[in-house]
Amino acid sequence: MSKALDGVRILDFTHVQSGPTCTQLLAWFGADVIKVERAGAGDITREQLRDIPDVDSLYFTMLNHNKRSVTIDTKNPEGKQVLEALIQKCDVLVENFAPGALDRMGFTWERIQELNPRMIVASVKGFGPGPYEDCKVYENVAQCAGGAASTTGFDDGPPVVSGAQIGDSGTGLHLALGIVTALYQRTQTGRGQKVLAAMQDGVLNLCRVKLRDQQRLERTGTMKEYPQYPNGTFGEAVPRAGNASGGGQPGWILKCKGWETDPNAYIYFITQAPVWAKICNVIGKEEWATDPNYATPAARLPHLKDIFAEIERWTMTKTKFEAMQILNKYDIPCGPILSMKEIAEEPSLRKTGTIVEVDHPTRGKYLTVGNPIKLSDSPTEVKRSPLLGEHTDEVMTELGYSPEQIRALRTAGAI
Ligand code: COA
Repeated sequence: MSKALDGVRILDFTHVQSGPTCTQLLAWFGADVIKVERAGAGDITREQLRDIPDVDSLYFTMLNHNKRSVTIDTKNPEGKQVLEALIQKCDVLVENFAPGALDRMGFTWERIQELNPRMIVASVKGFGPGPYEDCKVYENVAQCAGGAASTTGFDDGPPVVSGAQIGDSGTGLHLALGIVTALYQRTQTGRGQKVLAAMQDGVLNLCRVKLRDQQRLERTGTMKEYPQYPNGTFGEAVPRAGNASGGGQPGWILKCKGWETDPNAYIYFITQAPVWAKICNVIGKEEWATDPNYATPAARLPHLKDIFAEIERWTMTKTKFEAMQILNKYDIPCGPILSMKEIAEEPSLRKTGTIVEVDHPTRGKYLTVGNPIKLSDSPTEVKRSPLLGEHTDEVMTELGYSPEQIRALRTAGAI
């Protein structure tokens, strides 16, 4: 079966996490992704957090599936020429170097346009134009600068970063959308363009509801679904809301049977208004369905802590999966807190290709997260990540270099 991005060639100049997540998605959709790395070293993540000596780390392998790897020293004059040839052949150049690195290499937007006016140049940077535009940025910096950390955690504790890599992988996703959009526009204009996804912007986009709350707070001085209501105090900025739901239906994380020894024996419970009477029945508080102090969403807001404490008395008598089964029967929205171990072992995720077992020549079998976006006409086949420079000769031959020329370039340290 053909793939959605068949025929699209990506010059993948990305490293670490944010850029590689983007180009991995494009590769899963069928693009030919050619990852350019430095000979001898490669993407720094190849050797970071290694669990097997001298073998590409899971960090690298899980972010670089379905790509080809070529080694080019882009600071070597002959290496630069090879990169130029690649720029002329490719549709998109994706990079997430520190600000200015591509220009310092000699590949300014103007130069790239000279070489290939159809080229889309897509970049992840920590910040957009402004006071921090020259800063190097990693995941947690973006979470802090994008509003996620100040709004995550409990009111009586410090800011907390999320385990979800919303700064890196989140921005990679944003960039991928920008790239396919630019490719679409190119079909009308024939021109390339620059695509920028700043990590601060990507995180803020995912924290949109907190900017919503900032404005609500400024207007009304309170937010009744936050745990600070009714007894705590609100300051000038959106406070940390613990596990309160970010939407209009109050929710909280509740203990389940076994919580004393299992750190993940919890369930997320949402007191959705349309099923309130069913919730009252399930937990044995039938009288709350008609009690004016509890019968309406507005009446319940000042009592949310007590309500969740009462529901928790019920959830603590059930495992999270038993509770799920019972609550689902009544359409009461809830979700188990799943550990990574449980997720890795979940058969339905294996079946859909969301968790995939991959074989690697030096590592052996490992698990990875497959493509979370499923296209019915472009199914994803997850292929192992490339070894460093595995495809250098192949790609050089496609660019028209002879075996002798390839040998000479290798001797000169250009590839
Ligand atoms: N041949 C020759 N030189 C190469 C090369 C190649 N194939 N590939 C990279 N380089 C050079 C670059 O030109 C750069 O050189 P310069 O500093 O002399 O200009 C150098 O390698 C290092 O690049 P840099 O991006 O500065 O790496 P770093 O390890 O110091 O910083 C980050 C890493 C992630 C902090 C930085 O790249 C960054 O801020 N990126 C943008 C934001 C981002 O994506 N962050 C999230 C990462 S998950």
